[in-house]
Amino acid sequence: MARVFSGIQPSGKLTLGNYFGALSRFVKIQETDECMYCIVDQHAITVPQDPEALRRQTIEACAMYLACGIDPEKAIVFVQSHVSAHTELAWMLQCVARMGELGRMTQFKDKSGGGANADVVSVGLFTYPALMAADILLYQTERVPVGIDQKQHIELTRDLAERFNRDYGDTFTIPEPWIEEIGAKIMALDEPTKKMSKSSPNPNSYISLLDTPEEIKKKFARATTDSEREIRYDREAKPGISNLLEILSLCTGESIESIVNRYQGKGYGDLKREVADSVVELLTPIQAKFHRLLESGEAVDAFREGAKKAREIANRTLQKVRERMGFLQL
Ligand code: TYM
Repeated sequence: MARVFSGIQPSGKLTLGNYFGALSRFVKIQETDECMYCIVDQHAITVPQDPEALRRQTIEACAMYLACGIDPEKAIVFVQSHVSAHTELAWMLQCVARMGELGRMTQFKDKSGGGANADVVSVGLFTYPALMAADILLYQTERVPVGIDQKQHIELTRDLAERFNRDYGDTFTIPEPWIEEIGAKIMALDEPTKKMSKSSPNPNSYISLLDTPEEIKKKFARATTDSEREIRYDREAKPGISNLLEILSLCTGESIESIVNRYQGKGYGDLKREVADSVVELLTPIQAKFHRLLESGEAVDAFREGAKKAREIANRTLQKVRERMGFLQL
């Protein structure tokens, strides 16, 4: 049994990318490992958020975690800002991290326009990976299930943990990223060379887990493909078709090879329709459960209880760090 930690930002409607890269895996992993699943609201404020919208999205994310099948009897679920140890350890890790290594994070470079927007982006966007490292290290995490876009942040977390252990004595477990081959990067429907993202300004680029069947069908029907007619899996040459094949395989469990064989001589339109139908079938029961949980208010209770358990574990690590760094204990 490994200690597992992962988190999702409540910065918009969760997408099919979040589902396959993270949520669906969280549900499987809770059966075998000791899991902590967090909604990382403090990460969300690294870019401007409307306070009411952030609160609503956080409640919705709580309901969505459970609607997807995370079971609070099996995993500890909580909201990051309810456990103040995260920001305290983040400060300490900011003093361990180097400006240069944070500046090399590709997500920061992308979001800050390579430094060109330095007067517009927040300092929090720059130091964000130290907060993410704190999330992970507080729980002595061994494995971090994420999509491929988070790999660099977890490598930085490892570097910070190793540096801290070397300078102050053994304190943190060194975590491993846990990334699957298929589903680690679901691509945008309009531009399949880019990651599907909940913060995209174009809603046709992503499938929200709350989209209606009509929206889902329309978005897949419009999905960008290529000018050939052949259906085969090749992420470089055919990113649009390969993305559709991955999504279908993840929805139904059928291998990509078998789908490709079935589609010999058939057209892109048929594939798009089958993918859309499978996604509708996947999301319909999740949406029903989501609305039930949101109305009953049940989901937040689980997160309240989860925060108590998380605080206990986090405070044990934090206390050790305070001692190691030389803070006076009275
Ligand atoms: P976030 O909120 O952007 O995404 C949450 C999780 O979903 C995965 N993901 C995807 N996977 C496949 N295809 C996609 N298109 C796709 N889009 C998103 C992400 O890889 C992630 O696993 N910094 C993190 C949140 C975080 C965190 C942590 C994660 C904060 N602290 C500690 C793990 C451990 C983030 O912004 O994820």
